[in-house]
Amino acid sequence: MAVAVYPGSFDPVTYGHLDIIARASAIFDRLLVAVLENPSKTPLFSTQERLEMLAEACRPLPNVQCEAFSGLVVDYARSRGARVLVRGLRAVSDFEYEFVMATMNRHLNAEVDTVFIMTSSEYAFISSSLVKEVARFGGDVERWVPAGVARRLKERLAASGGRPQPWQGREAAP
Ligand code: PNS
Repeated sequence: MAVAVYPGSFDPVTYGHLDIIARASAIFDRLLVAVLENPSKTPLFSTQERLEMLAEACRPLPNVQCEAFSGLVVDYARSRGARVLVRGLRAVSDFEYEFVMATMNRHLNAEVDTVFIMTSSEYAFISSSLVKEVARFGGDVERWVPAGVARRLKERLAASGGRPQPWQGREAAP
């Protein structure tokens, strides 16, 4: 069984990510979408929220599972019996970052290879950061993210008067 891991921040998931997920799930027997839990980053959405948004969007794809991971992605892949990491490539500008990451991962574990899928052209300019910026200034983002994600973005950003408002500390609130 060919198992692949699609790791990322997914803060939040966009149609660009979902394009890669749908295409990778048609290639591999099982695809694990792995959300990085990174204490040094301050995401807009908590790991739990990012997982919920992903799980909802991936529901029609029975061979896709969404999980959180921390630590090295190659260690996570090994723990799940996966020998392939999937990454999307949008443009030449992505290449350098992806090249360094794929090469480092191969040095860390030569049994894990990275496979790149070119993002479909209609989503080639989308990123989670850009979507957050557009939403922050009141722009309509429903073309680029699922409706549930657009709603959560609106709620989160409205609550902060448009200012970035990381999730941290908010989950403990009643
Ligand atoms: O969506 P992103 O932020 O581009 O995803 C980056 C991610 C999560 C794939 C990358 O930061 C990662 O794999 N982090 C885990 C730590 C790790 O394994 N680092 C070594 C690889 S360079």
